[in-house]
Amino acid sequence: MMPEAAAIVKTLLAWYRHNARDLPWRGCADPYAVWISEIMLQQTQVNTVIPYWRRWLKALPTIEALARADQDQVLKLWEGLGYYSRARNLQKAAKVIQDAHGGKFPEQFDAVLGLPGIGPYTAGAIASIAFGQARPVLDGNVIRVLCRVDGINECVKQPAVNRQLWTRAEALVRQASREKKPGVNSCGGFNQSLMELGATVCMPRNPSCELCPMRHSCQAKKLGLIERLPNLGKRQKSVRRNYVALVIRRRGKLLVRKRSAAAINGSFWEFPATETNGNDPGGYKWIEKRWRQGPQALRTLGEIKHSITTNRITLRVYVTEVSHGFSDLDDSHRWVTHAELERLALTGAHRKIVRRLMVSNDFYHFGWAIDQRLTFNYTHALI
Ligand code: ADE
Repeated sequence: MMPEAAAIVKTLLAWYRHNARDLPWRGCADPYAVWISEIMLQQTQVNTVIPYWRRWLKALPTIEALARADQDQVLKLWEGLGYYSRARNLQKAAKVIQDAHGGKFPEQFDAVLGLPGIGPYTAGAIASIAFGQARPVLDGNVIRVLCRVDGINECVKQPAVNRQLWTRAEALVRQASREKKPGVNSCGGFNQSLMELGATVCMPRNPSCELCPMRHSCQAKKLGLIERLPNLGKRQKSVRRNYVALVIRRRGKLLVRKRSAAAINGSFWEFPATETNGNDPGGYKWIEKRWRQGPQALRTLGEIKHSITTNRITLRVYVTEVSHGFSDLDDSHRWVTHAELERLALTGAHRKIVRRLMVSNDFYHFGWAIDQRLTFNYTHALI
């Protein structure tokens, strides 16, 4: 039998009071700060997010600052977190808030849901955490907790099961709203208790059931289904893709180019690169044709593995030295020093190339100086 809503809420609120991690955005009532944290936390672990969140709020402390910021600065602050449409949408939404809501983060649920990049999960998280509203949240952590507690074994990708989970999450947060205590945001606290239990106790593999406050009523535990739930259905097959990148050095500077705004990872910088295929598996033909460098002029820097959604990318990297410029470079290209390169927003895979360069002999040959103030992207996320 599924545990009663009132019992779940009481148990989890009490557990959360004593076990919530001390995260910098908790206890922060500013909806802007909560919004940034929730967007960063989609697809990214708490420990990675913390330094990014701090740096972002320092650089762009208000919605107005974000709305007015240069896009290059916004992308740079996001560099290494991936899924860059999140950063672009944050700025779009900040502009909407400035123009349509007088610069104040809207409290009305439908207005929050109408902002770019905000779906039902994020709207529910902001409404409950920042405004104390009885709105549900359902993300991967919450789905896992609810499926186990209630013993739901149908595939969660089925629309009917998804609706069932949202309905349950909503009933629970409504129950939490009845637990009113002065000065306590029981709705935000309850939703975060579900997320927190999923992140720290009810993990996908080897959960710590012995520490779980729900251990006596959890249906999956009772039925021996912990490792089998949630039922996520068939995994999508991953696709292998191969790329080649060429680091071209000339007089101590490196050639980079800015991706077009409309492309995947749009407006980010990268070394010249292309996807390779069966006709040109090593990318040599492309290097010869586009960059006029024969294989003997190339040094191999190595292979970089990078995964994004279901793509398993292998990026093979070569370094070459030229004495001449190229007459056919359009304005998306730029020759940069190391210090300039550090200030540009690079995609994750290409930031890994810079890191490889920094630990290889090339770094010293380039005569680059490491500026310690510019090393954020090597001390977080990528190592
Ligand atoms: N994951 C997403 N949002 C979170 C939050 N507010 N607390 C903990 N984990 C989260």
